[in-house]
Amino acid sequence: MSFLRSFNILVVSDEADKLYRIFDLIGINFKKPQSSRDFKSFTYYDIAFLDIDSDGWEKRLYELKQYMPVIAFGKSDINKAVEAMKLGATDFLIKPLKNDQILSIFEKFKNYPKVEIPGLIGISKIMEEVCCGIKKAALTDSNVLITGESGTGKELVARAIHNLSDRKNNQFVVINCSAIPDTLLESELFGFERGAFTGATYTKKGLIEWAHGGTVFFDEIGDVSPLFQTKILRVIQEGEFIKIGGSHPVKVDVRIIAATNQDLIKACKEGRFREDLYYRLNVIHIELPPLRNRKEDIPILTEFFIKKHASKRKDLSVKGITEEALESLMNYSFPGNVRELENIIERAIAFTESSEITVKDLPSYVLKPHSSKKSTFPSNLKEAIESYEKELIWQALQKSKGNISKAAELLGIHRQQLQRILKRFKIAV
Ligand SMILES: Nc1ncnc2c1ncn2[C@@H]1O[C@H](COP(=O)(O)OP(=O)(O)OP(=O)(O)O)[C@@H](O)[C@H]1O
Ligand SMILES: [Mg+2]
Repeated sequence: MSFLRSFNILVVSDEADKLYRIFDLIGINFKKPQSSRDFKSFTYYDIAFLDIDSDGWEKRLYELKQYMPVIAFGKSDINKAVEAMKLGATDFLIKPLKNDQILSIFEKFKNYPKVEIPGLIGISKIMEEVCCGIKKAALTDSNVLITGESGTGKELVARAIHNLSDRKNNQFVVINCSAIPDTLLESELFGFERGAFTGATYTKKGLIEWAHGGTVFFDEIGDVSPLFQTKILRVIQEGEFIKIGGSHPVKVDVRIIAATNQDLIKACKEGRFREDLYYRLNVIHIELPPLRNRKEDIPILTEFFIKKHASKRKDLSVKGITEEALESLMNYSFPGNVRELENIIERAIAFTESSEITVKDLPSYVLKPHSSKKSTFPSNLKEAIESYEKELIWQALQKSKGNISKAAELLGIHRQQLQRILKRFKIAV
């Protein structure tokens, strides 16, 4: 039997050569480190086999499991096997290892994704580690807490975990926690039975029930009320809830992913967030770093967003960005992270008059005062006013989500007047 997919396997054992010989014998296509000098960083490997008959295996297991599934193996010792599984091993095999046992392990992992995650762009080391976290989380049913500043991609990561997991064919239900007032909480989350209260003329399924077999994504979990916290803790702990007017608990099978841009540890210390809930959610933690800490991702993200939005210009084919404009982006701090970069590119595509985005197409706040070269500085008052006009129009269009009438209203001008200006500036909406 031969696996098309090649595995990068890390074996941590005095008997590593023996294992590699078995992999060879049973036809597994793999790469192994040639010598200890050849040892790659953990993110390079797809799977690890860890011998737990060696000293310090617990610490090793803790390190490895952050990056890849770990198959523990050792002598027949039930206590140790249980401990290894508790510490996060994905499987346990008893020595001497049998070919068919190893085969079944690889069979299980053959569709296991490589580090690349569809739709998640990035080449930085940090993003590679995020991808490893996603891969690992997708393999389990453990709850996940995703933290990071606004616009860093928390929802994108949550969806990626769902889409790569066994739950992918069931619902991914987003619950925007801060949008549900306490008065509607139970009805929204758990639903109600017909006749539960005046006006309950039908039985309503709550969001949690919709997610049965799938994933619930609690967005902005740091902002929820004490009541909300208590209600969801029960679902997490018991795997069940009671509908309004219901007489018995409804069992649900859901994986919970939560996201926040707040410091939950601080919130726990200040008594704003339940510590027990925090620990229940934070089984796997994925931290999304701000874009300014992974600047090497900016060029590839820029290219990706140009391709994504280029089709919005019917009169022009925007293909790239000048070196100077990219340099300005590289020097910018992106308080709004990836979402802000996407916005800037979308805006530049609407404004540009050439097939390459230039510095002139970027918003003025991106350009640092000291780096604004002669060519970027408006040469006369007319140009300066036009640039300001463009900025205001863009902001109004952003706010109105591209609706020209609404944007005109925000700007205090007539719709036809705005249309004429858009035409003059060759802005495509
Ligand atoms: N690594 C990435 N590759 C491609 N697109 C990304 C990446 N990170 C974020 N984005 C895009 O940036 C936008 C913001 O991402 P997302 O909504 O997931 O962020 P968020 O962290 O949930 O933000 P907020 O805290 O404001 O809710 C989305 O359009 C998303 O597709
Ligand atoms: Mg979000």
